[in-house]
Amino acid sequence: MFSAKCKSKARLEGRTAIVTGSNTGIGYETARELLKRGARVILANRDLEKSQKAGEMLCAEVPACQLRLLRLDLASLKSVHTFAMEILATESNVHLLINNAGVFACPYTLTEDGNEMQFQTNHLGHFLLTLLLLPALKVSAPSRIINVSSKLHWFGKIDFDDMEMSKTYKPTKAYSRSKLCNMLFTKELIKRLQGTGVVAYTVDPGMVATEATRHLKGTAASMQKKMEFLKKSPVQGAQTTLHCALSEKLAVQKGMHYSECSSAAISCGAKRKEDAMKLWKLSEDLLLCQVGSAACVIRRNLFYPQIIQERMGLFRNGSCTSDAKLDGKTVVITGANSGIGFETARELAKRGARVVMANRNMELSKRAAEKIRSEVPYAQVNVVQLNLASLKSVESCADEILRTESQINILINNAGVFMCPFMLTEDDLETQFQTNHLGHFLLTLLLLPRIESSAPARIINVSSSGYKCKLLIYQIRKKNF
Ligand SMILES: NC(=O)c1ccc[n+]([C@@H]2O[C@H](COP(=O)([O-])OP(=O)(O)OC[C@H]3O[C@@H](n4cnc5c(N)ncnc54)[C@H](OP(=O)(O)O)[C@@H]3O)[C@@H](O)[C@H]2O)c1
Repeated sequence: MFSAKCKSKARLEGRTAIVTGSNTGIGYETARELLKRGARVILANRDLEKSQKAGEMLCAEVPACQLRLLRLDLASLKSVHTFAMEILATESNVHLLINNAGVFACPYTLTEDGNEMQFQTNHLGHFLLTLLLLPALKVSAPSRIINVSSKLHWFGKIDFDDMEMSKTYKPTKAYSRSKLCNMLFTKELIKRLQGTGVVAYTVDPGMVATEATRHLKGTAASMQKKMEFLKKSPVQGAQTTLHCALSEKLAVQKGMHYSECSSAAISCGAKRKEDAMKLWKLSEDLLLCQVGSAACVIRRNLFYPQIIQERMGLFRNGSCTSDAKLDGKTVVITGANSGIGFETARELAKRGARVVMANRNMELSKRAAEKIRSEVPYAQVNVVQLNLASLKSVESCADEILRTESQINILINNAGVFMCPFMLTEDDLETQFQTNHLGHFLLTLLLLPRIESSAPARIINVSSSGYKCKLLIYQIRKKNF
């Protein structure tokens, strides 16, 4: 069977990759090659036992393998959310996100979130995962997202009024639809990622002998058996994914869809811009309804997307029109090594302010400061350690700032944790209460004399429209039940 080979010789020392569905098949072979090239690889699988076995096999073959196993079940939005939060809290970088996991032609099933199984596993779960990990991908740029689609996307059709397919379900029809979703999602994603240094590709691996056909029965199963000799091996099946992940030429966005390690044609359905936007909106709406509230059945609301957008600081609705310069001014900003905080710090440094970044992780802090300095040669950036979950750390951070800064013209209380599991801080307080409120309260009071003496001065507390969440869920429930 003809199969093109990824020719890139790129090494990946110091790079981190996440591969979903990597305990077997194409995902396993992708992870194996990335490990061989020196990457740190996170195997994101739903079955930890299978993942463990795959990890042992990989480490037996690749001596210095840097591997992490983390549970991810794409058929559960809660699991996707937990996985992403763990990555954001513990990994300093994500350079490669390979959305490879997939389920093929399974019988009609709904996920715990109430979505058709193939739609959620192959598209919606990866959609949420990608959006939640975007801050990490952005801060690690140049970085890449690869969505493993299929030739069968050519047969895909989306009836936006019948996403559940409860009466119209056919296993292969639902699979083709989900793979068309991969294409449309990537199309819209590329548009939204312009200028961020994050590129996105779709891949058609060809016909590959893997466990993908496990749900087929009867004639369909025996036909697959007969076609076995035509199929590629999983190693061959992984080549186009590897090409998109490694090829130096693809570091800047170059087309979208790849097959046999070359740019490939896409179906008319995958070219429709309006459908790409419609699918994006529908996916956001579904997440709004389903994350954290499985009982909620309303399909349309803008609320959750806003939360995602705020966290990412990526999709701007409005932009600051002031052209004020800040030469001679000092800004203290918390949680500035990534996301909204980093972007704020960068802009203020560009405008001439001296920027003090108060962050928990000093290594990430130094890297973020370096990044700003490399972009803005005249930038004055200083980093101090601040862990808002420790009142002692808040005090010593304030002491250090008061010692080194003769004025503070702007304090931006930006740091925050979002929907973490229940945990107490070292001061025995609920973590989100202390990090998002009490730590900043103390910091502000301790810095206040210096802020007052620098007047006119400003204090900005970054809140969220999330404060409306309880009310909204209550209203939705009241309407429906
Ligand atoms: N094989 C082909 O001919 C072919 C052709 C075109 C496209 N593709 C695409 O290639 C990708 C890889 O497929 P493959 O051929 O390597 O199939 P595979 O051997 O069946 O591997 C699929 C992987 O996805 C994982 N997965 C399934 N449901 C999941 C869930 N809910 N959460 C997390 N992981 C889940 C599986 O985990 P478990 O082991 O726990 O089930 C497995 O690791 C898929 O996106 C597929 O659609 C394959």
